[in-house]
Amino acid sequence: MSETGMSESGLSETRRAVLTGIGSYLPEHCVSNAELAERVDTSDEWITERTGIRQRYFAAPHETAAFMATAAARAALEHAGVEAISVDAIIVATATPDQAFPATAVRVQAALGATAAFGFDIAAACSGFVYALSVADAMLRVGQVDTVLVIGAEVYSRILDFSDRGTCVLFGDGAGAVLLQARQSPAGGPGILSTHLHADGRLGDILYVDGAIGRPDTSGFIVMQGREVFRHAVALLSAAVSEALAANHLTSQDIDWLVPHQANRRIIDGVGKKLGLPPEQVVITVDRHANTSAASIPLALATAIADGRIKPGQLILLEALGGGLTWGSALIRL
Ligand SMILES: CC(C)(COP(=O)(O)OP(=O)(O)OC[C@H]1O[C@@H](n2cnc3c(N)ncnc32)[C@H](O)[C@@H]1OP(=O)(O)O)[C@@H](O)C(=O)NCCC(=O)NCCS
Repeated sequence: MSETGMSESGLSETRRAVLTGIGSYLPEHCVSNAELAERVDTSDEWITERTGIRQRYFAAPHETAAFMATAAARAALEHAGVEAISVDAIIVATATPDQAFPATAVRVQAALGATAAFGFDIAAACSGFVYALSVADAMLRVGQVDTVLVIGAEVYSRILDFSDRGTCVLFGDGAGAVLLQARQSPAGGPGILSTHLHADGRLGDILYVDGAIGRPDTSGFIVMQGREVFRHAVALLSAAVSEALAANHLTSQDIDWLVPHQANRRIIDGVGKKLGLPPEQVVITVDRHANTSAASIPLALATAIADGRIKPGQLILLEALGGGLTWGSALIRL
C-alpha cells in the first residue's frame, strides 16, 4: 500500500488518519459541588475557585468503563455512518477497566458486534487518549488497519478516597470515542498531522493509584501531591504544545482550537496563556465534567463539535498530562 500518491488534480496526497465520527457518554448521576460537600469537608466556593469544577458525574454500578466505552463508541459509529463490522481495531484508554483481562476493548468489541476487529487497552492515566490516538495513527498510516475506534473511558469515582478532600473533589466519570478512518488527504487536508508522547517515570510518586490486582495489600485509591502535579503540568504541557507547533512549522495563530485535558481550569488557563491563545479558542468542559482522565479530551471534543463551535476543516491542538508522569499532544485537522 503506498503512503503517498497523486490526486486527480495532480496534488500530492498522503494516507492519513481522519476523524470521521465522535461520540460520548456521561453517567446519569450528576453530583454538584454542594452535593459532594455533604459527604466531604469542602465547599462549592473552594472547589470552584481552585479548579473551576462545578459538578461531575458518578457512575452507577452498571455504568462500568466497558459499558460507557460501548455507548460512546456506538454514538461515534452512528455519527460516522459506519457499521461496527467495518471496524478493524478498538483501542481503549483506561486506568479503571472492568477486569484485569479481557481488555476493556475486547468487551466493547463483543458488545458492538465488531467481530472483525482486534482490540487492546492502553494505560497512560490522563494521557491515555493521546497515547491511544498516537498508536492508532501509526497503525492507520502504515496500512495495518483502515478503521479504528479510539476510546477513553473511566470510572474514577471507584478509586477515590473520599477522606482525601484535596483529590476526591477533582475527578468524575465518563467516556468519549472517536472513529478514525484512513483517507488519502492532500496537504492542508483533514487528518492527524502529528502526535508527540513523553513520560518521566521518576515522577511516578506524585500521582498514582495505590496498587492493583497484582498488589492486593494496597488501598486501590488515587494518591496525589496536588501542588507538585500542578507545577509540572503547566511547564510540561506548555513545552508539549510548542513542540507540536514547531514540528508542523506553525504558530499558535494557526490553531483554531486548543482542546486540553480537563484537569483544572487554572492549568488550562496557564497553558493557553503561554501559548498566547485567547480564552475563546480554548474548549473548557472541566466545569461540567471535572477530570475524567482518559475520557476528558474526547468528551470535550464531542461537546464542542456537537454545539457547533468546532467545525470541519479547523485545526485542533490536543494536549494531556497524567500519572507517570505521562504527557503528549496531537494536532488534528478536522
Ligand atoms: C489539588 C489543588 C486544587 C489544590 O490546590 P492548592 O492551592 O495547591 O491547595 P493546597 O493543597 O495547598 O491546600 C490549600 C488549603 O486548602 C485545603 N483544602 C484542600 N482540599 C480542599 C477542599 N476540597 N476543600 C476545602 N479545602 C481544601 C487544604 O487543607 C489547605 O488548607 P490549609 O492551608 O489550612 O492547610 C491543586 O494543587 C491542583 O489542582 N493540582 C493539580 C491536580 C491535578 O490536576 N491532578 C490531575 C492531573 S491529571
